[in-house]
Amino acid sequence: MGTKVKIGIIGGSGLSKPDILKGGEEKEVNTPFGKPSDALICGEIEGVPCVLLSRHGRGHTIMPTNVNFRANIWAMKELGCTHLLVTTACGSLQEGMHPGDIVVIDQFIDRTQKRIQTFFDGAPLSPLGICHMSMADPFCSRTSKMLYESGKNLGLSIRETGTMLTIEGPRFSSRAESKLFNSWGAHCINMTTVPEVILAKEVGLCYAALALVTDYDSWREGEEGVNVENVMKIFKQNSSNALKVLLDVIPKIAKEDWTKTLEDYKNAVTMNTLLPHS
Ligand code: ADE
Repeated sequence: MGTKVKIGIIGGSGLSKPDILKGGEEKEVNTPFGKPSDALICGEIEGVPCVLLSRHGRGHTIMPTNVNFRANIWAMKELGCTHLLVTTACGSLQEGMHPGDIVVIDQFIDRTQKRIQTFFDGAPLSPLGICHMSMADPFCSRTSKMLYESGKNLGLSIRETGTMLTIEGPRFSSRAESKLFNSWGAHCINMTTVPEVILAKEVGLCYAALALVTDYDSWREGEEGVNVENVMKIFKQNSSNALKVLLDVIPKIAKEDWTKTLEDYKNAVTMNTLLPHS
């Protein structure tokens, strides 16, 4: 029998309700990097142990720059998670991607400015060394493929790959910025993939993301431009689709043996970490 899996779920509005887990119990966790966005809910989906966390807090009180990404990821690892499945609202940056679509993202472009992107920062309680993690393939391709297959089998409008451009926020992009990002070929835009995926890789988690398209950002001629009312409305309407994918894929993930994949990710961290020498 392979490694037992435990699935962490980081969600936005609609996906942070404890009742999606059976027997959910709240756990307050502290980490060397401070407190996570909220209590973590530990429970089960179809007998598979899961941990749920609301990225912006259950009352949506934490803006993207102030999300303690390091505490969130560390807490998930501390509670024994092997996988991290996340949902994120995003804008479409390309024709052919519409509000209501889901994208399983496989790349990112970083336009954030104020975020700590590593656990290995030399602070007394941080892990030892300096980590230059490879970001050629930031997401877990094996987990991502399973998310995509589940979405497709459920008949959802889902894309197998896509590049997420993450901005600092909290403001949305100007039309000029949005057109620039469109010309770069990025597929969608949000405020949270960076540094979340990077930190998950630094602790060897199988991280995959369902991006829920809520708007056309501001590049598209004839559209009024993104606003928060529409984002929240469309996100709430479509988060039930993301939930369907999670409920379908989690028992499937638990049936597979992840020993080698997890070992490979752990080795990648070790190999990319320079330890102090005299
Ligand atoms: N989240 C949802 N839509 C977005 C957009 N257009 N830009 C940044 N973050 C978003």
